[in-house]
Amino acid sequence: MAKHTVTLIPGDGIGTETTEAMQKVLAAAGADIEWEVALAGAGVMEEYGTPLPESTIEAVKRNKVAIKGPITTPVGTGFRSVNVALRKTLDLYVCLRPVFSIPGAGGRYNDVDLVIVRENSEDLYAGVEFAEGTQEAADLIEFCEKAGAGAIRPDSGISIKPISITGTQNIVRYAFDYAVAQGRKKVTAVHKANIMKHSDGLFLREARKVAEEYPQIEFDDKIVDAFCMNMVIDPSQFDVIVFPNLYGDIASDLAAGMVGGLGIAPGANIGKDYAVFEAVHGSAPDIAGQNKANPTAEILSAAMMLDHLGEQECAARIRKAVREVYEEGKWLTGDIRWATGSSEPACSCTEFTDALIRALG
Ligand code: NAI
Repeated sequence: MAKHTVTLIPGDGIGTETTEAMQKVLAAAGADIEWEVALAGAGVMEEYGTPLPESTIEAVKRNKVAIKGPITTPVGTGFRSVNVALRKTLDLYVCLRPVFSIPGAGGRYNDVDLVIVRENSEDLYAGVEFAEGTQEAADLIEFCEKAGAGAIRPDSGISIKPISITGTQNIVRYAFDYAVAQGRKKVTAVHKANIMKHSDGLFLREARKVAEEYPQIEFDDKIVDAFCMNMVIDPSQFDVIVFPNLYGDIASDLAAGMVGGLGIAPGANIGKDYAVFEAVHGSAPDIAGQNKANPTAEILSAAMMLDHLGEQECAARIRKAVREVYEEGKWLTGDIRWATGSSEPACSCTEFTDALIRALG
């Protein structure tokens, strides 16, 4: 295996535990990786004056590939999401999240095999927001009224939802190219175009146009609320699913819940020049520092990274070992014991990692 240099952002909360487990598993699987550690999050605020230091962005740019642990974002106040900033700065416009059943992981279905493709830079995540009571919010409210767009209460906070033709075409094309490359049969676009005619309406219109370029792939669309119901009733009707940012975020957790939970859901943020791999889950403050986290999602994200680096054989070995540990059912973390309804004692993050390393031989 060729040597690769990868930027590692451990993150905070359970991130330090899950990324350490991931590094051990990759080493045991024979992945020849030199890790360049870069920091981000609340812990670096004091030293750098920002939760996302320039040196961290430079480290990702230098190595082109990074893997990160989750990073806590203060709710309601405080600094803006480091994750969103990283995606915007590096133009990681694709959020790719394969969702698949792992026997023994407590999924509600045994045959889920779908891929979530979430637009990663626009929509309500664009960060265009105006706090209630500010002059900017007042100006915007006045503008909307003058433009005949309707009245907005003067004590409103406002978040803007931009969805562009360029952004939509890029993400939908990625979804179709991915479907072609991976031998998948169908792409579904999810939206709320009946209500948000100029943002989701545009998304649907452009998705339909791009779909015409790929006659070999079936295309359909679903309104997001109906999508949720359909997904829960019968996930096998979906293959590749493309979403605007916010719906993709919510659907990712929904889908993760159907196959056993956030502990096993991997993901990647991909752009034309860089890729940053990370689990779907957050920093899990409720279990952080207790050696209880399930590192599977981070490890499967690393397997996606190995695929990206051209190390498919090593990635396949890791996925096989993960399946074996879950099938054996002896070493499972608390989230999976809960999902399976088992009263067997849960193992620690470290014990799970050791079991996986043994399975790798
Ligand atoms: P969360 O994903 O951190 O936790 C939700 C629930 O799932 C918790 O009960 C947690 O214990 C459990 N859980 C999550 N991952 C687990 C794992 N690997 N093993 C076992 N149990 C696990 O979501 P929450 O609580 O909404 O967010 C916490 C923080 O994480 C927030 O500050 C949020 O902004 C941040 N976050 C960061 C992300 C990132 O860095 N990419 C993504 C999502 C949230």
